[in-house]
Amino acid sequence: MFDSGVGGLTVLRAIYERLPDEATVYLGDTARVPYGPKSPETVLRYTREAVRFVRARGVKALVIACNTATAHAAEAVAAEVDIPVIGVVDPGAREAARVSRSGAIGVIGTRGTIESGTYERAILGFRPEARVRSRACPLFVALAEEGWVSGPVAELTARAYLDPLLEQGIDTLVLGCTHYPLLRGLLAQVVGDDVRLVDSAAATAADAARLLEAEELEAAADAPPRHEYYVTDDGGGFADIAARFLGAPLRHVQRAVLETDEAGREA
Ligand code: DGL
Repeated sequence: MFDSGVGGLTVLRAIYERLPDEATVYLGDTARVPYGPKSPETVLRYTREAVRFVRARGVKALVIACNTATAHAAEAVAAEVDIPVIGVVDPGAREAARVSRSGAIGVIGTRGTIESGTYERAILGFRPEARVRSRACPLFVALAEEGWVSGPVAELTARAYLDPLLEQGIDTLVLGCTHYPLLRGLLAQVVGDDVRLVDSAAATAADAARLLEAEELEAAADAPPRHEYYVTDDGGGFADIAARFLGAPLRHVQRAVLETDEAGREA
């Protein structure tokens, strides 16, 4: 699994719950996070470099946990590697298309994810008559990392971002960013009982489970699985933030040095 930083640990956590026998390799590009405000070309180049590192560890399938990286790079990377690639956008989009009563679906994410229109296209692919309303909510990333997931600052921010979507009558809201599951309690309170929240992390873990079964790639449950964690930088209170996202301390985190690909050549 690859993410721009620690946010993907929410997806890893969902994978642990859904696929407890699978060994995992997690790479967080903490030296270059955030990906949200960066150009599609830069995110594609970073993603190729990260994928090369993860593949060299002999993985049988790859989850791109970062919504921004999925939006800008999943299709290209999937065409370049010979293992299954699962992004977080399609699982969340499919779930939203399925659960929405009226077809009025809100999507929130980073600027990069929202401006790419990837969620909107995916939702319309699953449900052509859907009306998708999107909004970039960049401050949610900082709030989640700071641990400000409730209280007046978080609530005011959430209302400022979400009120315009609610005014457009959405009945479903896709949490299209790795960090947003940490704000789930607050977001649920702000949108109220009539709006369903769709968490891409849980939907992705369910998709990964289906894929491993279909491809007969499931691990045997005969030994405790090994979990490896790599980051490109471990400063900035990384360990505390990461533990909050994973819901447990990360053990034996290693520093990854990525081979850079300045020319943006193929992975
Ligand atoms: N992982 C990113 C995402 O899900 C959020 C953090 C970032 O901007 O890199 O879009």
